[in-house]
Amino acid sequence: MGILADAVVVVTGAGRGIGRGEAIEAARQGARVVVNEVDAGAGRAVVEEIVAAGGQAVGHVGDCSEVEHAESLIATALEAFGRLDALVNNAGILRDRTVVKMSPDEWDAVIKVHLRGHFLPTHVACAHWKETGTGGRIVCTSSTSGLLGNFGQANYGAAKAGIAAFATITAMEMARYGVTCNAIAPSARTRMTIGAFGEMVVAEGEFDFWDPDNVAPLVAFLCSAQAGAISGKVFGVQGDSVEIYQPWTSVGEITNGGRRFEPEQIAARVGELWEGTGVHPQVENMMARMRYRLDAD
Ligand SMILES: NC(=O)c1ccc[n+]([C@@H]2O[C@H](COP(=O)([O-])OP(=O)(O)OC[C@H]3O[C@@H](n4cnc5c(N)ncnc54)[C@H](O)[C@@H]3O)[C@@H](O)[C@H]2O)c1
Repeated sequence: MGILADAVVVVTGAGRGIGRGEAIEAARQGARVVVNEVDAGAGRAVVEEIVAAGGQAVGHVGDCSEVEHAESLIATALEAFGRLDALVNNAGILRDRTVVKMSPDEWDAVIKVHLRGHFLPTHVACAHWKETGTGGRIVCTSSTSGLLGNFGQANYGAAKAGIAAFATITAMEMARYGVTCNAIAPSARTRMTIGAFGEMVVAEGEFDFWDPDNVAPLVAFLCSAQAGAISGKVFGVQGDSVEIYQPWTSVGEITNGGRRFEPEQIAARVGELWEGTGVHPQVENMMARMRYRLDAD
């Protein structure tokens, strides 16, 4: 049997892309899977694919950022399979626009699906685990757009950075109940990123680095009993690569001898903060220039 034998795993937004791969891999690893989707047809197709391959899955149609759907999602796992072992918060949308052009609705839609869509299922699952004491696993889905920033994605990046913080804090609060919570920052060619990765051609027989299914093995591991000692971490994952992110960390300091700074004193000494830290006050390298969309010159 696989690494998730007999476990019950819930995946939100599992009808396509990365979530589909996570649901299928969880089933391949022996889990019984609840496939949540707003798009009923896409969710049904994944359930059918899992069952056709000999696995066990049920569908749940609903918006995971709405209270009643988050509640019925976790209830579906308990009613269909009698237990809950892992929740994978994956559902997400984009409404890319620069800050100046972004409408309040575009801001709200992205913040809601990602942040509320992570909070609500986690809230319901954690209440269950607190009550039963059975322990559990949560995997959240952050993004380099939040961890590093990305042009045109202030709403999405703010939500994704928030998700990294959410995972860290949930890990702290739920440690006493045997629940781990980690986040991934994946990169893959999906409907969401077809513009960014879609044109990369893979020759027959070559490893497809941007295949969304490449994200699932890390998620299956984080959902397993073997990952019980890992919590509050943020992993990068794409292709054949798994990374570990360092959280926001203070790398330099100036102090003022026990007295409040005057703004002018900070102006005179701010350069000391950059010295020897590797941090630069401006756009520091080629990768950062790409994110700022500034020319190399
Ligand atoms: N593809 C990447 O390179 C990339 C990079 C960083 C982060 N991510 C994140 O990975 C996750 C999956 O993205 P993807 O690339 O597979 O996108 P995708 O668009 O292919 O799949 C997302 C799925 O979520 C569903 N969904 C959207 N809102 C929902 C809701 N409120 N409730 C339930 N289901 C909902 C959609 O119908 C869709 O099937 C997202 O959180 C995304 O932000 C993706």
